[in-house]
Amino acid sequence: MVMTDTTNKNLSYLAMDDEYVNPVLARSARIVAHKAKGSYIYDRNGDAYLDLSTGIAVNNVGHCHPKVVEAVKKQCEELIHTSVVVHHERYIELAKKVVEITPKTLNSAFFANSGAEAVEGAVKLARYVTGRPAVINFRGSFHGRTFMTMALTTSKLYYRENYEPLPGAIHTALFPYEYRSHYKGDTKKVIQESLEYIDMLFHQFINPAQVAAFIIEPILGEGGYVPAPEGFIKELRKIADEHGIMLIIDEVQTGFARTGKMFCIEYEGIEPDILVMAKGIAGGMPLSGFVSRRDITNKWPAGRHGTTFGGNPVSCAAALATIDVIQEEKLAERSAKMGADIMKRLKKFQESSKHLGDVRGKGLMIGLEFNDEKGAPSKEIADQVAAKCLEQKMIVLTCGQQGQVIRLIPPLNISDADAEKACDILEKAMKLK
Ligand SMILES: Cc1ncc(COP(=O)(O)O)c(C=O)c1O
Repeated sequence: MVMTDTTNKNLSYLAMDDEYVNPVLARSARIVAHKAKGSYIYDRNGDAYLDLSTGIAVNNVGHCHPKVVEAVKKQCEELIHTSVVVHHERYIELAKKVVEITPKTLNSAFFANSGAEAVEGAVKLARYVTGRPAVINFRGSFHGRTFMTMALTTSKLYYRENYEPLPGAIHTALFPYEYRSHYKGDTKKVIQESLEYIDMLFHQFINPAQVAAFIIEPILGEGGYVPAPEGFIKELRKIADEHGIMLIIDEVQTGFARTGKMFCIEYEGIEPDILVMAKGIAGGMPLSGFVSRRDITNKWPAGRHGTTFGGNPVSCAAALATIDVIQEEKLAERSAKMGADIMKRLKKFQESSKHLGDVRGKGLMIGLEFNDEKGAPSKEIADQVAAKCLEQKMIVLTCGQQGQVIRLIPPLNISDADAEKACDILEKAMKLK
């Protein structure tokens, strides 16, 4: 039964949600969004929430950026859908743009709808072209919720449990997670341990000649906002080259200026074989894609992969506008600078905090890892901090292999005043008794 609206106008909708929406859909906050602008979401009561979640790292240019809205409106009046029946202008323009902004050897783009679908496509490409079955992923990774991407996901058992059997030929290597490593403080050894683990896989589990691809997030996202230490992916590139293995970089969460560069892999200065993107690409419209080299994609015959909705004109128009905004507003530079300032402030706070164990990240992709009294990962504390932020009308999400990390992913054009306000709210929330 639908409840009558009284003073809280969210309630009738929450009641309908409880009645009609599949309960598998987990929401982080019981707020009914009515509209959003910039860094704020407004609920049905008109209450404003400072949004440090950006729809899980999607609204990099802020909610409803006027240039994105205008591009979508204009496109809707001209052409909404064609699928692969004919070519369309926005797809071609976006492919050109994506080739321009990704590492220089990547020059052949494909667009899909979601991050998971793009990862699936990237793995299909690697398997088809190499003729090899196996994929090596990394512990703590998240690549999606379809069967293949679920099999590649090891950030939490929760995402895989009771869905077996999952696709096979996946071997999981050790992600160099320094904060929880017994070599903490010695980054070289942390890297070395992960590289030796791959060597072990090659000797005990899978012949490298059977491996189609490595797939890695440059910063574990769902797995806890853990950046791969500098130099690790470069080493991975060398191993991949030695054995004819493709290197797939999953930039679904790290892309589009989130980490202070257009793509996080730029920090490593290496060229992947395939780069996967989604989330921040289209200002909130559903779109994803992957870009590879023409010499690779020329070996994938037309029709061996495809999609009905992927790369539809409206999403492509939104992506073109979004990329323009990122470039015009210099959001990569802003993300790098503001991220460094926020981390500096939170590291200072950490000095006097019993529970805030680690502050890490790149640009405006910042993770705060919480510990209990014994130094063990504490989901309970992370949840408490998130709840206290929400009481102060600020939305933050948790992540991490045990839910012990708070992730800060504000719009990249959040104002200085709102960034300051966010830090004030967080510090107040982190002052636990
Ligand atoms: C790194 C990474 N890859 C893939 C995905 C899957 O994206 P989607 O939820 O759009 O399928 C996600 C989603 O969080 C992600 O963070």
